[in-house]
Amino acid sequence: MIARKLDGQALAETIRGEIAPQVAAFQTRYGRPPGLAIVLVGDNPASEVYVRGKLKSGRAVGFRADLERLPATASLEDLLGLVARLNLNTDIDGILVQAPLPKGLGPDAETRVFDAIAPEKDVDGFTPGNVGRLVQGRPSLVPCTPLGVIELLTREHIAVAGKRACVIGRSDIVGKPMALLLMQRDATVTICHSKTVDLPAVSREADIVVAAIGKPGLVTKEFVKPGATVIDVGMNKVTDPEVAASLFAEGHPRLAKFRENGSVLVGDVHPEVADVAGALTPVPGGVGPMTIAMLMTNTLRAAKARAAGGHVPAGR
Ligand code: GUN
Repeated sequence: MIARKLDGQALAETIRGEIAPQVAAFQTRYGRPPGLAIVLVGDNPASEVYVRGKLKSGRAVGFRADLERLPATASLEDLLGLVARLNLNTDIDGILVQAPLPKGLGPDAETRVFDAIAPEKDVDGFTPGNVGRLVQGRPSLVPCTPLGVIELLTREHIAVAGKRACVIGRSDIVGKPMALLLMQRDATVTICHSKTVDLPAVSREADIVVAAIGKPGLVTKEFVKPGATVIDVGMNKVTDPEVAASLFAEGHPRLAKFRENGSVLVGDVHPEVADVAGALTPVPGGVGPMTIAMLMTNTLRAAKARAAGGHVPAGR
């Protein structure tokens, strides 16, 4: 079997096309565009790339999209002060503080900073109030990556209700909210992690596998029931020639690219899975663009809710 490719890039463009006229209508009605502020601390090269993509996408749909930069030497107080100002800025509807934060800010910096974001502007869905509302199945702002996976499954007409889903990874950003969203759509969900015994056998039971562990090519053929849908959330930069050679056969164009550039971007799913799965998201071009599209969706929802005087956006 050669898996159907789930084209997140194309879907994200469709979604942006749906959002743009709503942004124009918002501007006409309220005299300002929805506003998104992205905070980037330090100069992590991967974060720079992600943030650039988010700003570009925001501007493409007609948002005001501001980059708020702080140097790696900034203190936690500087960062909390910036978040406090953005919370009070009435032209800003969405605040995203790009993770990871520099180590120098201390081990609990991310928790403290995410906690400080006004819940109605929390377009990442990371604040405890939004997480709690998600757990209870109440309207909330939902983390963009798992929301993007659900949107992709829905638009690709992949049934979730009654299916077995296996989420590999238990992070706050992806694994936990992913499992909740699948459960709320009536899947029977198993959450796996580094201590799961016989992970391939557990994963092989699933109709839908979501891989979000950050290990290049970990999910091999033996993890996948023939015909299953496989969603690859991984974004791993491989620089080790041995790892690259374990993923791509000699003559594969991506191996040639690796030799040319010294690195290649790969997911958590081994390319051989395409021979077994029924449908598969590519990396790049699968979940990544959907994550950014959901940031646009969340920001528009937050803007509409704030403009209408509400606090937590209605609907999910
Ligand atoms: N770093 C990697 N993914 C994310 C995300 O979804 N949101 C934020 N704020 N930082 C990230």
